[in-house]
Amino acid sequence: MSTVKKAVIPAAGLGTRFLPVTKSMPKEMLPIIDVPVIHYVVKEALASGIDDIIIITGRGKRSIEDYFDDAPELEMHLGNSGKEEYLRMVREISSLVDLHYIRQKEPLGLGHAVLQAEKHISGEPFAVLLGDDIIKNSEPCTKQLIDIHGRKGCSVIAVEDVPQDMVSSYGIIDGKPVEPSLCVLKDIVEKPPVHEAPSTMGAIGRYVFNPEIFDCLKEIPKGVGGELQLTDAIRLLKGRQDVYAYSFRGRRYDTGSAMGYLEAIIDFALDKEYLHDDLMEFMRRKVGR
Ligand code: UTP
Repeated sequence: MSTVKKAVIPAAGLGTRFLPVTKSMPKEMLPIIDVPVIHYVVKEALASGIDDIIIITGRGKRSIEDYFDDAPELEMHLGNSGKEEYLRMVREISSLVDLHYIRQKEPLGLGHAVLQAEKHISGEPFAVLLGDDIIKNSEPCTKQLIDIHGRKGCSVIAVEDVPQDMVSSYGIIDGKPVEPSLCVLKDIVEKPPVHEAPSTMGAIGRYVFNPEIFDCLKEIPKGVGGELQLTDAIRLLKGRQDVYAYSFRGRRYDTGSAMGYLEAIIDFALDKEYLHDDLMEFMRRKVGR
């Protein structure tokens, strides 16, 4: 039985690939139609049995806290004007879960962001869900990782096959298969040139860690881009205890990239009955069919 009850959602990055909008708005708050990206990430954590969530925020990220907070004036207005459906929706968001916020004073890298949560995690295994990755599946990706952690007692990272031209944007793994879809990590390299990459299997934004990852984060030097890289800490950890890599089931959208964001919007719109037919008709007209 796994006891992973805490999760860290790093959301303090600068979002430079989405400038200029991220000058005044966190990329984690970009809407997928009418729901911000990070809402899906929080929902995945909850559906995976997590009941304590720490969001790592930074400068300009206040709207994330506002979004999950109570909104008494808005609620009163909706109540007074009889908009019960909207009122229910707004209340549901602020009652989702007790969220905690820790500020990363400077965006010194994903590894540095995770390290900020050490005190709150207090020696337990925990999940990490990147605030700009949405994964759609009936069984949440984080739950899949928690189940493996429960069986093996080891840290586990989610991986997927990435296109050759994207290899140099990911932490790429070398693994020894031990079960269908499951490898023991032999190596992991942050953003390797494609000709030096050990495979095309890239770490995406979901992890379950044993707390020893924090020691590793404190020992590693700055890595690629002068940032404290989570990948480098995983590399150190796998020399001390087994770490697993799991080819998760589900469809991932990297909403921190323009194409991933667009794909998410289109797929989620097609899932909505009130948009499906009109969107299909629009796309047919676009491609001339
Ligand atoms: P990314 O590398 O995709 O975020 O990190 P970024 O740095 O904001 O992206 P670009 O390249 O500038 O567009 C993945 C996740 O880690 C968080 C981000 O907010 C994102 O959710 N992150 C990254 C932090 O919390 N702190 C950091 O220092 C870096």
